[in-house]
Amino acid sequence: AAVGGVAGIVPLEQIAAAADPVPPAESTPFTAVMPIPPVLAPARDSRCDRYDITMRTARVEIIPGLLSTVNTYNGLFPGPTIVAQRGRAVRIRQTNELSVLTGVHLHGGKVPAAHDGHPTDTIAPGASRVYDYPNNQSAAPLWYHDHAHMIEGDNVYSGLSGAYLVTDQQEQSLPLPHGRYDVPLQIRDARVLSDGTLYYTRAQDRPHVLVNGKERPRFEVAARRYRLRIFNTSVDRPFDLRFADGSEFVLIGTDGGLLSEPVRVQSLLLGAGERADVVVDFARYAVGGSVVLVNAAALATENADVMRFDVVCTASDSSKVPGKLAAVPPLPKATVERNFVLAQDWTRGALINGNVYDPNRVDVQTRLGTTEIWTITNADPAGPPPNFHLNHSFHTHLADFRVLDRNGKPPAPTELGCKDVVRIPPGDTVRIAMTWSGYTGRFVFHCHQLPHSEWGQMATIEVV
Ligand code: C2O
Ligand code: CU
Repeated sequence: AAVGGVAGIVPLEQIAAAADPVPPAESTPFTAVMPIPPVLAPARDSRCDRYDITMRTARVEIIPGLLSTVNTYNGLFPGPTIVAQRGRAVRIRQTNELSVLTGVHLHGGKVPAAHDGHPTDTIAPGASRVYDYPNNQSAAPLWYHDHAHMIEGDNVYSGLSGAYLVTDQQEQSLPLPHGRYDVPLQIRDARVLSDGTLYYTRAQDRPHVLVNGKERPRFEVAARRYRLRIFNTSVDRPFDLRFADGSEFVLIGTDGGLLSEPVRVQSLLLGAGERADVVVDFARYAVGGSVVLVNAAALATENADVMRFDVVCTASDSSKVPGKLAAVPPLPKATVERNFVLAQDWTRGALINGNVYDPNRVDVQTRLGTTEIWTITNADPAGPPPNFHLNHSFHTHLADFRVLDRNGKPPAPTELGCKDVVRIPPGDTVRIAMTWSGYTGRFVFHCHQLPHSEWGQMATIEVV
């Protein structure tokens, strides 16, 4: 099933029609307890925090009672969480004990090109390499994941992703929930077959929803405020996350860090690769009560449940969401404008401006420090559901951007602040602005629906 790259393109109709080798597993929602991936302890020296991570297969219980073989960082699915301090470098030695090529990208990281995990800068089976991350950037929910050329979708789907949280003094000075009340939720879809196989299919109906590696888990909370760092780590699927009772919660940050001020919301529309930082007050529920997080974008044939929060006790709570969170710096005036058209061509691949990715081609060149406005259009018409394959999720390496507008209208709350992924559904035109600063070299931008980037929906910007 795992056919990488343009050579492996199969017409969509054929993919959708391909039968599973065995039927998908049945599962009962809210059976598994949601784990919190452990925070990895570094070896510290005067200059940096060092980590050793091994990529290897592991047998894990995604669906209760069923074992699945997955690819992991350190045997964990998802990988261990790394917490980095702004201004303190992190050095990670990644060793590949898998039988596939891998490469690690720090998504959202401001990282020199040589350490960015470029698609062709891969780690052969049996080899290892060191990545240096300077962390000269403000607090933000980053994540690390595989990026090996033409197999990134397969590799991420099979388990190669984990959270990487940058923190700084400004964030730590805020009275937000912290410690055990600050919880990452890495949400993705999957198709687990009844024999346990985690099955990578380009068909869109992956019926299982995993949070931190467990299918529709439950999570016990106290009746108080929690900070939830939500990652959409799906390879394709957008989620429209809401509480089943329609209750409000507070959005405090997006991909690139805290917003300037909190926004009350009832839903979070997150494309593949997007993040949201939210505060939820479970004090509105009685002890013994519960609330389900649902995906309002679930197909009519699917169970919309994502996970359940069970309120099991009271707890004291001195946390608050302050009215001012962070200073999001204004962008300088743009001096360059560019247009990008995203489209699919089922005989050639998934395209940016009519091209499939060629790692040897520079698509765009800019000077260090240039501020640009990019207008990105999804030229495909919407098809009948499931039609995630017609969406795109546009991602830039190196530079965060601001969403200026979507179809001429102001962006949604989840599109405020510093972003590195933006949804581009069929027919939409989104304008973003960014400054290409920090490092020179070649960086990619691409669709974060990884089957699309595998199919060529990726391009190179060279910063000179
Ligand atoms: Cu999250 Cu180029 O990737
Ligand atoms: Cu795409």
